[in-house]
Amino acid sequence: MRSALIALILGLLLLFSGCIERQEAPEVLEQETTEEWKADGIIGDGEYSRSVLLQAPARQGYSGGELAVSWKNDKEHLYLALNGSTDAWLSIGFDPLEWMKNADIILASVQGGKAVVLDEYCTGNYGPHIEDTMLGGSDDILEAGGSKSAGRTIIELKRRLDTGDRFDKAFSPGGAVSMIWALSSNPDISLKHNIAYGEGILSLTGGEAAADDGAALAALTAREKDGLLFIWEEEKAARDLYNGLYEKNNMTIFLDLVRSESSHMDQARAVMEKHGLAVPPDEPGIFQNQTLQEMHDQLLAEGLQSDQDALTVAAVFEEISIVDLEKELSASQPDDVRTVYEGLLAGSRKHLRSYVSDLEGQGIEYQPRYLEAEEFQEIVKS
Ligand code: HEM
Repeated sequence: MRSALIALILGLLLLFSGCIERQEAPEVLEQETTEEWKADGIIGDGEYSRSVLLQAPARQGYSGGELAVSWKNDKEHLYLALNGSTDAWLSIGFDPLEWMKNADIILASVQGGKAVVLDEYCTGNYGPHIEDTMLGGSDDILEAGGSKSAGRTIIELKRRLDTGDRFDKAFSPGGAVSMIWALSSNPDISLKHNIAYGEGILSLTGGEAAADDGAALAALTAREKDGLLFIWEEEKAARDLYNGLYEKNNMTIFLDLVRSESSHMDQARAVMEKHGLAVPPDEPGIFQNQTLQEMHDQLLAEGLQSDQDALTVAAVFEEISIVDLEKELSASQPDDVRTVYEGLLAGSRKHLRSYVSDLEGQGIEYQPRYLEAEEFQEIVKS
């Protein structure tokens, strides 16, 4: 009884100290591959070189769940394993423009002991996702297998890095791609996910070889380096700000967007590392750039006043991010950095829309502070 009471007190202390729920980017584990790849629905200890565990908690409409993604690649093929907490369908999508739009989707289940793996593409923000073949593309899953037991589904598959199909994301060795994922407990694939959904990063191996090839990796100028460092830290400032706000108000939107900002930091980090740029230590609430430090501290203090202030400062921060990303995109950038900035910009536009719409739900009309009225309207109405 006494130990239960102590555990309860410790739990409450942790909760109020904000130690619970701090969101870190999920760690990508690396290992040597020692086993031959087989599409047999069993993920061998040495079968894949990288893996990451993506998780989402229970919330309204979602029971909560996880997807372990393991992968390896050579110069031509991607080998992927998905192990999800479902016995119906699981799905992964690459490089969405916003929400689910334009994602190269793999949607899979195990039926009658056989893996059913669909090569799909999502044409709208919330679907529909359709088989590539129905859009005039091709089915590019070369081999697949799967297994299902005790509420888990495992899918293993192989595809070309570049399938040549315009409905598939073309991967390159050493490159990083944003991914989305979703799980459902309902076998009907036309029904929305109900276990969990989220996002992550898939970073392929082989960058070292590409880095040796001077033509493949343009050296960054001092201005480009500063820009990249700033953008990484700005994504970190967003994550830390939303974390601070979430600890106070427990609003789900902040929990979601902390995850999203962590994933954005990962995308910036991957391209920094690829260009040999040192990534500063990631200490929550601490920034090298003084402007970001002041902005973070000031917006956090303002946002802690009330739920509406929290949503307002978050919208302000997204406006600032949009302006900064657009500034970077208007200057010369290597293609890989540009691609990351475009992804982050799409993310910030989406976040701004979410905050503005939540404020609207509370009867507040948000007025832009940094964006021109016309651009702001275009973003929130798109
Ligand atoms: C069966 C068709 C699907 C429908 C009708 C659907 C619908 C939706 C809706 C309405 C949302 C908004 C959030 C919510 O209401 O909970 C959403 C979000 C999301 N969906 Fe789907 N979805 C489908 C399939 C998928 C698939 C196959 C994936 C995985 C690749 C996926 C990944 C996501 C993600 C990651 C989000 C969050 C987007 C964000 O906030 O950035 N969805 N979906």
